[in-house]
Amino acid sequence: MSRRLHIEVFRYNPLDPNSEPHMQSFYVNEYDSMTLFIALNIIRDEQDPTLQFDFCCRAGICGSCGMVINGRPGLACHTQTRDLPDHIVLHPLPVFKLIGDLSVDTGTWFRDAGARIEAWVHNDHEQFDPKAEEVRMENDLANEIFELDRCIECGCCVSACGTARMREDFLGATSIARVARFYLDPRDERNEENYYQVIGNDQGVFGCMGLLGCEDVCPKHIPLQDQLGIMRRMLAIHSVKGILPKRVLEKLQHKGCCHESH
Ligand code: SF4
Ligand code: SF4
Ligand code: FES
Repeated sequence: MSRRLHIEVFRYNPLDPNSEPHMQSFYVNEYDSMTLFIALNIIRDEQDPTLQFDFCCRAGICGSCGMVINGRPGLACHTQTRDLPDHIVLHPLPVFKLIGDLSVDTGTWFRDAGARIEAWVHNDHEQFDPKAEEVRMENDLANEIFELDRCIECGCCVSACGTARMREDFLGATSIARVARFYLDPRDERNEENYYQVIGNDQGVFGCMGLLGCEDVCPKHIPLQDQLGIMRRMLAIHSVKGILPKRVLEKLQHKGCCHESH
């Protein structure tokens, strides 16, 4: 017998001076293969057309439908209601600016983070020649870079992060994994000092408390912790280069502290 779901939703419209933050209950009959995204659409279509939440692809690709589902950040379109109890409580992702109800502005946050970490290939080539033959890259390396390029900017890892919730200038695991992606890329000619300037501080790798909340909630299973560890060790070694004896540094570097290419 199908369940009757009690879905409790955070409601607030910051643009309406009469709006007060509160929780509102809705009830929906569950059916096979129902996702939370479908349940929210049923509520909006049949019960309350003013309910705000975001979606675009319905397939875990666009990253729009992130929200806090029974206390845990996740994608509504990737969440089957059968995996949840019949009482479901939904909040908007914290850290990001609230647009209304379950809808938040992740775009501004990610644009700002991308600008701060300079998320583009840096090199001295004066001009891009569209007619030149492409430089080949080893398949294994291309796959490693692709692995880190799969982020859909849903914001779940940022919302799950204790540091990001305490300090709004923290770049988060997603940005650090993005830097790691450029660090791997042989076309990016930045050196360790350049990366240090970008993430070698409390807003970057040294602000992370390492409690793994980010990786636990990432719907794309991006290896955030590995990248945090690799970047942190690389930058820590860089910062003591002039102090530690060469022999000790070499030992550290051979303990998997850095990606092979650098
Ligand atoms: S491991 Fe670091 S980046 Fe990830 S959630 Fe914890 S503090 Fe945030
Ligand atoms: S790293 Fe994962 S959780 Fe974080 S924004 Fe990207 S896809 Fe979402
Ligand atoms: S609607 Fe695109 S990820 Fe959920």
